[in-house]
Amino acid sequence: MDRFRIQGPTRLAGRVRASGAKNASLPALAACLLTSEPVILGRLPAVRDILTMRRLLEHLGVITEDVGGALRLEARGKAHDDEAPYELVKTMRASVLSLGPLVARRGHARVSLPGGCAIGVRPIDQHLAGLAALGADIHLEGGYVEARADRLAGGRFRFDMPTVGGTENLMMAAVLARGTTVLDNCAREPEIVDLARLLVKMGADIEGAGSPTVTIRGADELGGAEHEIIPDRIEGGTYLIGAAMTGGDVTLEGACPGDLGPLLDTLGEVGATVDLADGAIRVRGDEPLRAADVETAPHPGFPTDLQAQYMALATLAEGTSHIQETVFENRFQHVPELARMGAVIDVTGNVARVYGPTPLSGSPVMATDLRASACLVLAALAASGETEIQRIYHLDRGYERMEEKLRSLGAQVERVAG
Ligand code: EPZ
Repeated sequence: MDRFRIQGPTRLAGRVRASGAKNASLPALAACLLTSEPVILGRLPAVRDILTMRRLLEHLGVITEDVGGALRLEARGKAHDDEAPYELVKTMRASVLSLGPLVARRGHARVSLPGGCAIGVRPIDQHLAGLAALGADIHLEGGYVEARADRLAGGRFRFDMPTVGGTENLMMAAVLARGTTVLDNCAREPEIVDLARLLVKMGADIEGAGSPTVTIRGADELGGAEHEIIPDRIEGGTYLIGAAMTGGDVTLEGACPGDLGPLLDTLGEVGATVDLADGAIRVRGDEPLRAADVETAPHPGFPTDLQAQYMALATLAEGTSHIQETVFENRFQHVPELARMGAVIDVTGNVARVYGPTPLSGSPVMATDLRASACLVLAALAASGETEIQRIYHLDRGYERMEEKLRSLGAQVERVAG
């Protein structure tokens, strides 16, 4: 297994461009199942989860083709299989996003239940309850969920909590239902708004994406479309946190400042300088860092996917930072690894108290999930000496060419093949 070897401390400086958003790409790829016409997606990041979704779609009969840096997808005709097998779903939970489009267009779907993951139990009860509310017959057996419906029927459904995947699955199901669907207490992430943009280009009638209530008037069929995926706010935010915590000066190009509001506010609070100009976000870490509390929450709250990276910064800040994780119940696995590097953190329930500043020293550490590994990379950049991060396959799931981008900002990062 590959690992990273990082020499620190490093001051990150320069310009870096955000890649396309992994979490906008995955539902957009699944959306191609809703039409027999070609869907062309641009700015898909070259990360492993995109390859896994592509393999799943091909398994479901979708013809895929690389065309000039974009991906052309065509789910024409009657496919030979409506099943998302365990072998694929176990490597990527987002495979469950095929459920809504499959049952909506083909009347049948059999999808392996994703099971839990490192950061939490992550049930899909809301996805299933929502599909049942639209008339799908849901059956669980042998680790699979089977959904059947001659044609889904519009209806009203309220999510128990704002769920990103649940909102996306139900939106994709409702666009081909008979009649109107109203979804309440929806997630409002920018990735959901981007999916709605694509679906509308395909001919869907959707209102309110990005707000708690989304209204979808079903269509008999959808057409093809061309769509450019939005920039990755989580990838971009990771580099900006890196700038602030290494006393650096990084300009992030191609990102949407509006999608990063809570992070930019917090970086201002800890003493970094944030400038917005010409669609770019510049962060300078030229002041000593001050502690600031963070509570993760669904958008527009502070993203849980930046919590770990922010914790790396908090270890270097003057004072005690309280970091409350409210979205996932087991998302502090980076804490013992940071402690190996010299951080002082104690966790009670869903609150981590980070005592700073603590000088970090290079150490061998282990990545446990995608964002925890990004946290360890940032800590290694600020630490003195060499850090070796094992299991970086977690990083490769969601960060495009990370070592190259970091090197372009002055970092000493080496990928060691395992
Ligand atoms: C999406 O996951 C993202 N993944 C996650 O990013 C992100 O952390 C999460 O949203 C929250 O922002 C993708 O978009 C592919 P949720 P998702 O449904 O859709 C509970 C990364 O690092 N819940 O919004 O799975 C759930 O357990 C990944 O890129 C139910 O209880 O998240 C969690 O506590 C990690 N029942 C909360 O809701 C359900 O049916 C939010 O989960 C659905 C969710």
